[in-house]
Amino acid sequence: MNGFKSIEFDEEKLKFIDQSKLPLVEEYIVTDDYERIAEAIEKLEVRGAPAIGIAAAYALALSIKNVSDEYEIVFSKAYERLASTRPTAVNLFWALNEIKSEFEKNRDTKKLYDKLIHKANEIYLDDFDKCEKMAEFGLQIFQKKSKVLTHCNTGHLVTAGRGTAFGIIQRAFDLGLVEHVFADETRPLLQGSRLTAFELDKSGIPFSIITDSTAAFLMKEGKVDLVITGADRITSNGDAANKIGTYSLAVNCKHHNIPFYIAAPTTTIDVNLRTGEDIKIEERDKSEINSIGGVQITKQNYAVFSPAFDVTPNFLITAIITEKGFHLPPFDFLNV
Ligand code: MRU
Repeated sequence: MNGFKSIEFDEEKLKFIDQSKLPLVEEYIVTDDYERIAEAIEKLEVRGAPAIGIAAAYALALSIKNVSDEYEIVFSKAYERLASTRPTAVNLFWALNEIKSEFEKNRDTKKLYDKLIHKANEIYLDDFDKCEKMAEFGLQIFQKKSKVLTHCNTGHLVTAGRGTAFGIIQRAFDLGLVEHVFADETRPLLQGSRLTAFELDKSGIPFSIITDSTAAFLMKEGKVDLVITGADRITSNGDAANKIGTYSLAVNCKHHNIPFYIAAPTTTIDVNLRTGEDIKIEERDKSEINSIGGVQITKQNYAVFSPAFDVTPNFLITAIITEKGFHLPPFDFLNV
């Protein structure tokens, strides 16, 4: 996927691939309207922790693009709107606060808009750099040519670079350290079978899509050497929120004595929260469970419970890889 850009700021507009249509349709959304970007985050047209942060940073900067009077009011309205889109990935709030600090530092200067866009560009470039560093630190999880299992989607689509967990897999594959990747389909929105499969295919990595419930069986058969996923929010003690189903993978790894790794940039670490119990877990609409691609699959009136994320406790995590290094338990991210 060399040169592939899922998100970029071009000609004063944000351009991002519509992830809700992949892999069957490759279509880009191009806009300078922060409300359209907020909607895209809510609808998972742009998704994944780092990409949500990048999109929100540009959206907040764009909110004052054509505003001459009352830009403080417009800016704070946009901040609130963007912060209300999705609650779990901390990258969103981190990126909004970076733009907000820049706004506060420069509020009385000319070219305020240019300064905010410059800051958003820095966030973008920095994310690219973090992916490269994670890919290098992550190589040490491969003791031999390995069969890897991953969940949800963590690659080029959700970062400015090659990705978090996916970036590590891709770099290791290039060095001959990956034999095969099992991609959990990731119910209900199929980030694995639609998006990770898209990235694996474009990167030439051999893979099979599996249903989420197949993982334990594969582990028992000795067909998985290691599991690696991304994260949406990691608390200071190393508890990690990620796509629903991640926790059960970690439990299954423990049972089968298989290492379980998390890869995420430090922008995913929330030092203000001590444990995973403090993480707000997003609940999604029942329509994402009782229909697939707009086709009803169960009765409309059946009750549904749909948490988008779960929390893997630190004691189930073998190591956490960030751009700063390879972190082993006991985790203490207050000092990273
Ligand atoms: O609901 P999503 O698709 O935004 O959830 C995304 C995930 O859980 C990813 O695994 C996580 O953001 C890591 S992204 C590098």
